[in-house]
Amino acid sequence: MNPSIENIKHILVIGSGAMGSQIGMVAALAGYRVTVQDIAEDMLARAKEQLTSRMQANVAKGRASQEDADAALGRLTFSTDLAAAAATADFVIEAATERLELKQHIFTQLGELTPAHAILATNSSTLGSSKVAEASGRPQQVCNMHFFNPALVMKCVEVVRNEATSQATVDTTLELARRFGKEPVLINREIPGFVANRLMGAIQKEALALHAAGIATLEDIDTTAKTALGHPMGPFELMDMVGLDVIDFIAQATYAETNDDADRPNPAITNLVARGRLGRKSGRGWYDYQS
Ligand SMILES: NC(=O)c1ccc[n+]([C@@H]2O[C@H](COP(=O)([O-])OP(=O)(O)OC[C@H]3O[C@@H](n4cnc5c(N)ncnc54)[C@H](O)[C@@H]3O)[C@@H](O)[C@H]2O)c1
Repeated sequence: MNPSIENIKHILVIGSGAMGSQIGMVAALAGYRVTVQDIAEDMLARAKEQLTSRMQANVAKGRASQEDADAALGRLTFSTDLAAAAATADFVIEAATERLELKQHIFTQLGELTPAHAILATNSSTLGSSKVAEASGRPQQVCNMHFFNPALVMKCVEVVRNEATSQATVDTTLELARRFGKEPVLINREIPGFVANRLMGAIQKEALALHAAGIATLEDIDTTAKTALGHPMGPFELMDMVGLDVIDFIAQATYAETNDDADRPNPAITNLVARGRLGRKSGRGWYDYQS
C-alpha cells in the first residue's frame, strides 16, 4: 500500500553528501519532518554546518525570515541511526555513494526497516531503480527521484519508473516533488542518462568534436553556447563545474551498460582526469582557475 501524499509526514534522506544534504533541506523548507542519515559522523556535521550557514545567508540577504529559516532547520535531524529513522519514514530518498552493491544493501535494509507503505526512491544518476527494486522486497514502491546539483536551486526532478513501479508510486513521487517547489518530469522507461544527462551529453560530445577538429577554441565554443543559444554556461565551463572525473565516471558506467561505440568515454577527458585536472575543484580542468 502506498501512502497517499497527505500521509507523508516524515522523509528519510540517506547520505549527507553534496546531494543528500541539500535534498534534506529542500524537504524541510517545504514543511516536512526530515532525517538525514549517513554512516559518516563528519559528513553529517559538515552538512549541518553548511546548511545552517546557507540559511543564515538567506536571512541576511532578505530571502527568508529568521522564523522560517529556524523552523526549517528545526525540522531537520542528522543521524547515523538508520533503524530508528527508518521505523517512521513514509518516503525515503537514497542519495548515498554511487556504488551498486552499497545501494542494494541499503534497499534490503530499507525493505526490512521501513513501514510497509513507505516509497523508496533513489537519487542515482546512473543506476536505474530496477537494480535495487528487488532487494527491497517491494519493487512496486521503488523509483528514481533524480535531483540536480545544487538541489536547493535546480528546479528539475526526473521521476523514472521501472517496469514494476506502480502508478500510485509515480503519482505520489511527482506530487511530492511539486510540493518541494520543483518541476518534476516523468521518464517512462529506464534509459542510461535519463533525459537531462542525455541532452547534456549530446551537446558536450559535439563541443568536444568541434574542439578536437580545431574548428574553434573552447572559449569560442563556450561563448557561442551562451550568446547564440542562451545557455547560462558553455559546455566546457559546465564540464569543469560538474567535475571531469564525474563526467568520465558517468561515461564509463554508460558505456559498460550499453556497449555502444557512440557512448565510449572521451579520451581527451580521460586524459585530463589522469593528469589530475578535474575541473574547478582541482584548480584546473579545461580552464585554469589558479591564476
Ligand atoms: N553530485 C551530483 O552532481 C549528483 C547529481 C544528481 C544525482 N547524484 C547522485 O546522488 C548520489 C549521491 O551523490 P553525491 O554527489 O551526493 O555523493 P557524495 O560522495 O557527496 O555523498 C555520498 C554520501 O553517502 C554516504 N554513504 C556512503 N555509504 C552510506 C551508507 N551505507 N549509508 C548512509 N550513507 C552512506 C557517504 O558517507 C557520503 O556522505 C549518487 O547516487 C549520485 O549518482 C549526484
